[in-house]
Amino acid sequence: MKKIAIFASGGGSNAKAIIQHFLDKKELGEVVVLVSNNSDAGALVHAENHGIKTKIFNKSVFKDSPTEVLDYLENEGVDLIALAGFMLFMPKEIVAKYSDRIVNIHPSLLPKFGGKGMYGMNVHRAVIEARETTSGITIHMVNEEYDKGRVLFQTSTPIYIDDTPETLAERILALEHLHYPQIIAKTLNEI
Ligand code: GRF
Repeated sequence: MKKIAIFASGGGSNAKAIIQHFLDKKELGEVVVLVSNNSDAGALVHAENHGIKTKIFNKSVFKDSPTEVLDYLENEGVDLIALAGFMLFMPKEIVAKYSDRIVNIHPSLLPKFGGKGMYGMNVHRAVIEARETTSGITIHMVNEEYDKGRVLFQTSTPIYIDDTPETLAERILALEHLHYPQIIAKTLNEI
């Protein structure tokens, strides 16, 4: 059985959807740990509620001793890392070791509205301000460059005249929850 580690820093609605998907379809793979840099992350609660192990590494561990994280992942037998609202830059040591085995989700149609500072509501505000007519989600591999890894999946939603960043965010999140677990399962199957 292939093993997944979810990395999340925030509320964790994607983490919750992923955990549920792999609990419902156990034959697809197993979420073995939820890793966070933030001990207040809501994502931790979702994992704990389902008896999934959690592990906190603070920012300085990621930055200064990434091998500590790597050792942990290897010890847990992790095959794939799924970033779900993980706010730290992924150290190159981890990217190298898990080459083509780290996936991320971004709430826009990359390469539009990606890069530094483009996270959370910043993305949706920028999309609305730019008077875009569509937005969407991008699921991609993680490489050394922010938001630039190989795209695995994109899907879009129209932007309505009365959309606000909040209403758009809500629609985008629903798309994320629907598609991300499935793309993770597909990727897991291919490695
Ligand atoms: C999502 O919008 C995702 O695209 C981005 O971070 C957000 C995480 O939301 N990478 P949640 O914590 O899963 O609710």
